[in-house]
Amino acid sequence: MGNKDISILAIESSCDETSASIIVNGKVLNNIVATQSVHEKYGGVVPELASRAHQENIVPVVQEAIFSSGIKKEDLSAVAFTKGPGLMGSLLVGVSFAKSFAFGLGVPLIEINHMQAHVLAHFIDDPKPEFPFICLTVSGGHTQLVLVRDFLEMEVIGETRDDAVGEAFDKTAKLLGLPYPGGPMIDKHAKNGNPKAYEFPITRMPDLDYSFSGIKTAVLYFLRDELEKNPKFIEDNMDDLCASIQYSLIKMLTIKLEKALTQYKIKNVAIAGGVSANSGLRSTLEQMARKKGWKLFVPKFEYCTDNAGMIAIAAHYKYLASEFTSLDVAPIAKMKL
Ligand code: KG4
Ligand code: ZN
Repeated sequence: MGNKDISILAIESSCDETSASIIVNGKVLNNIVATQSVHEKYGGVVPELASRAHQENIVPVVQEAIFSSGIKKEDLSAVAFTKGPGLMGSLLVGVSFAKSFAFGLGVPLIEINHMQAHVLAHFIDDPKPEFPFICLTVSGGHTQLVLVRDFLEMEVIGETRDDAVGEAFDKTAKLLGLPYPGGPMIDKHAKNGNPKAYEFPITRMPDLDYSFSGIKTAVLYFLRDELEKNPKFIEDNMDDLCASIQYSLIKMLTIKLEKALTQYKIKNVAIAGGVSANSGLRSTLEQMARKKGWKLFVPKFEYCTDNAGMIAIAAHYKYLASEFTSLDVAPIAKMKL
């Protein structure tokens, strides 16, 4: 490892994943993720438990990232961390750890916006999207259409006004009695179901914005009525219910994505965030891309969900731009892109 190498330790702790990654000269060497299973029995992330689990995980996760990378901590050029958006208690653990580690080593700190990192995850591996492109960032906490002009130059052109699409997947899954997180379970059942079996609402918001709160209420009332007639309605029709719910959610996502691409005359499309793992969304976008001549970019699954690899790649570009952070930095729960 030469003196001029740019070696960065990156830490992600915004929600329920404690993750660390080492990047050297723009190449992500590893991506260590400790997932917190403690939330499963509560049907959602419990913020205080997440914060405590981060405290337990952060040292072993960082140790493993440094050890498996083969570099010495004294060779690090900077330490990067997620500043926001996310859960305050979770963010605090990562921010405090990164600050003390950077201070101890005498290297600069780099703050990263979690949503920007989801977009930049596309630059970890080939093929990389060309600028400008539009990224549909879909996770448990966010649903955004982002116009990306350059590595550090991006603008939110549309977003949800209430629930995130991942939340809609998880909350409707809960109504069906499926375990948390429900998104992957809906995906699995939907593969064997008929997407046109039931009709759930496709909410049309103005401009490029989204709304996902209506579908939850629609599913709640629909199930209440059907269960009165047949108490086994859910188990008898699980696959069709999942396929129909997923159909509405994907439809809402793709209507606005297509509108954005037309409006900005862009043909490069990327998807990011945990929901981009959804097989129905992927195949719908692949079909649309073929039909409409779009170039579609989908990152590897491990870089779709929350991970420090994406924080590392974002940190590399910020290092090149000399965008460093002072040691009195604090986390921000509701941070804008
Ligand atoms: O990006 P992420 O790991 O964490 C957040 O920043 O929120 O996204 C988690 C979300 C959850 O809502 C989860 O249900 C959803 O992504 N998800 C899926 C799938 N895999 C994960 N939703 C639908 N289909 C999937 N295959
Ligand atoms: Zn995320």
